[in-house]
Amino acid sequence: MNSEHYQNHIKALNHRAQDILAKEGLQGLVIHSGQPRRQFLDDMDYPFKVNPHFKAWVPVINNPNSWLIINGVDKPVLVFYCPVDFWHKVNEVPTDEWTQSIDIKVLTKVDAIAELLPNNIQDWAYIGEHIDVADALGFSHKNPNAVMNYLHYHRSVKTPYELDCLRAANQLAVQGHHAAKSAFFDGGSEYAIQQAYLQALGQSENDMPYGNIIALNRNCAILHYTDLAYRAPNKSLSFLIDAGAQINGYAADITRTYSFDHNDFFNLIQAMDKLQAKVMAAMKVGVRYLDLHLMTHRLLAQVLIDHHIAMGDIDTLIDLGVTRTFFPHGLGHMLGLQVHDVAGFMHDERGTHVAAPASDPFLRCTRTLELNQVLTVEPGLYFIDSLLAQLATTAAKHHVNWAQVAAFKPYGGIRIEDNVIIQPFGVENMTRESGLID
Ligand code: GLY
Ligand code: MN
Ligand code: MN
Repeated sequence: MNSEHYQNHIKALNHRAQDILAKEGLQGLVIHSGQPRRQFLDDMDYPFKVNPHFKAWVPVINNPNSWLIINGVDKPVLVFYCPVDFWHKVNEVPTDEWTQSIDIKVLTKVDAIAELLPNNIQDWAYIGEHIDVADALGFSHKNPNAVMNYLHYHRSVKTPYELDCLRAANQLAVQGHHAAKSAFFDGGSEYAIQQAYLQALGQSENDMPYGNIIALNRNCAILHYTDLAYRAPNKSLSFLIDAGAQINGYAADITRTYSFDHNDFFNLIQAMDKLQAKVMAAMKVGVRYLDLHLMTHRLLAQVLIDHHIAMGDIDTLIDLGVTRTFFPHGLGHMLGLQVHDVAGFMHDERGTHVAAPASDPFLRCTRTLELNQVLTVEPGLYFIDSLLAQLATTAAKHHVNWAQVAAFKPYGGIRIEDNVIIQPFGVENMTRESGLID
């Protein structure tokens, strides 16, 4: 970790905290890492997922019952939970270089936090998931809207430390993508490919920022396919992998699609790759993400025409809903502490919401591009039975080459997803610069 970048990150976050605390007349923020969640009628917990506001400040993602006390001026205080417990692994109190930018106190009993909190707790805001805990501790301000909106809005512009983490997450994920690609061309099952991916990262499923999508053949048409078939298909035709990694709690979210043979589907993948490059070339400060999404539909209409999947002109194919049948999701989303990062629709720090148009309900971002925002760009083209069946009941059916659709159906679909930083020169493509070229 670049410690100067981390120091400056803490300064930037303190600056933001100071600004919103003054505006809201608050003394400070008390951020809860979270608590383990118990499974119903069981004595086991779900995997712990830390409060994103907590990991925004410190690279600690696996320690429940910990706290941050922040007044926007002094070093943040990390209250690190370190119980006496012979049943579970107890994390050691961190001593890495980054800890020089914060103060650490150790908490050995969950309830002892009350003694470490400021006296005038009424003037502090609790930021976290456990409102019952906040009530018990005497907070009256709990996740105040004005504070949340402010923090979420500003989180979209990443600090140099955050960009370091996101680049490193891309580099790590790309190692897995290379291994997964080899496993596919070796004829591996979805399960075998998943194992190859995790092995290359040296991580477990629970370390992933989201459930990996590892799909062969027709399964590539299921947008969020997270099953894993243990047996390889008789013939591997196509492979869609949407898999990431995280570094210090910052996520990569990368998709590639491969064709086993050099055939029409291979050519279609190449066309989608070129389409994605054209969208990337249009990305710069001041451009509306919605316009990039709409541009993608125009480019996709041309791909459908060129590959004899649809007939007609671009406007007709868009107006009749043909492109939205083949590409039903949004172009992408903000990326950072969360895979689908917050504030994709937020247009100012007060939280003004600009929704996606009714025609594009699954678009996750209507922001205007700014320097150092991080986003995904993930155009897709799928052969989805239910959507095609619906299209066949409309006037658009005469614009579809159903024989060509039937020929492509066994391949499922295509998505190509890269992670980019908005830079003064356009985009920095972290995914391709990490070596995932095609
Ligand atoms: N992996 C989920 C997405 O691409 O949005
Ligand atoms: Mn993805
Ligand atoms: Mn994504």
